[in-house]
Amino acid sequence: MKDFSGKIAVITGGGTGMGRELARQLVAEGCSVAMCDLSEANMAETARLCTQEAAQGAKVTTCIADVSIEDQINKFRDEVALGQDTDKIHLLFNNAGIGGGGSFVKAGRAEWEKTFNVCWGGVYYGCRAFLPMLMKADEAHIINTSSVNGFWASLGPQSSHTAYSAAKFAVKGFTEALINDLKLNAPHVKCSVVMPGHIGTDIAINSRKVLTGSQAEGLSAETLEAARQQMAMMGVAADQLSDAQIEALVEEQGRRFRDDAPTTAAQAAKIILDGVKSDTWRILVGDDAHRMDEMVRADPAHAYEPGFFEQMVSNVGWRLGGART
Ligand SMILES: NC(=O)c1ccc[n+]([C@@H]2O[C@H](COP(=O)([O-])OP(=O)(O)OC[C@H]3O[C@@H](n4cnc5c(N)ncnc54)[C@H](O)[C@@H]3O)[C@@H](O)[C@H]2O)c1
Repeated sequence: MKDFSGKIAVITGGGTGMGRELARQLVAEGCSVAMCDLSEANMAETARLCTQEAAQGAKVTTCIADVSIEDQINKFRDEVALGQDTDKIHLLFNNAGIGGGGSFVKAGRAEWEKTFNVCWGGVYYGCRAFLPMLMKADEAHIINTSSVNGFWASLGPQSSHTAYSAAKFAVKGFTEALINDLKLNAPHVKCSVVMPGHIGTDIAINSRKVLTGSQAEGLSAETLEAARQQMAMMGVAADQLSDAQIEALVEEQGRRFRDDAPTTAAQAAKIILDGVKSDTWRILVGDDAHRMDEMVRADPAHAYEPGFFEQMVSNVGWRLGGART
């Protein structure tokens, strides 16, 4: 798809980060955007920015929906049809995602499954719900967001990262298999898997809101305990810190994750949209993602050794020691 003008794009997780920047860049090119998110306030801000920046004819609609719940994605689809007055869409960005559920051994089952269900279920239900509308378009493209954790299941030797990695591997495997399925059965629909490196967004902060089931500030007792344990593993005397101090440190980590990233959300969105235009099925986002991909392919047998991680940190030039999502 060379031109987005006059097309209709659906974006999950349009409230902030890469979803918001995708929406802004698409409407600037004259593409209508229908987005969903859990945060009404963040989506309203995205919609406000889009309305200011939209080329003529681009329409923006929003819907509160949790992508991990099939009924809610189906309701979103019905609202897209109504709000955009259409029976077809051209672009589907299955972008919503959260981090969490680090340890299979120690993390609570609810957090583990929520993380998996948002990151994998969101992509699966999104494709199920919108495929008929994509197939009705003359040309269409599905863009599923995985991660570098879709080919390297780690944040480094000091952290557990099981739910997110499992989900992102699933997104990558599904999308790669879908390429041929579409070629055989719906050749006018393309698909791509997106694997961002470290992108400057509020994902760390937003993930906690999703996992606590509240868009309000503040950490659950379970999240506080997990953060305390992780800090202890990294050499911080966390048992001597109050809950408020742990919370402040977690907030600071979230801000550093956003502000120290080598690639901004806007740059990431441009790379993704350029990848769609050039019909690239495998979209690595950021120099760090390219370097990680090369390293893991060159030496998969040692990919989870501490020395490999140290080499990776130095090769990719991360300023944070292990807070990728
Ligand atoms: N930021 C990174 O470094 C990075 C790296 C690799 C992959 N990713 C992936 O990129 C995608 C976008 O992340 P981002 O960094 O822009 O994060 P973000 O937190 O800024 O944006 C994600 C949006 O999704 C929404 N969301 C979360 N759970 C949802 C749910 N159940 N239903 C509907 N909306 C929901 C959030 O409210 C938020 O607005 C995610 O899939 C993430 O896993 C991010």
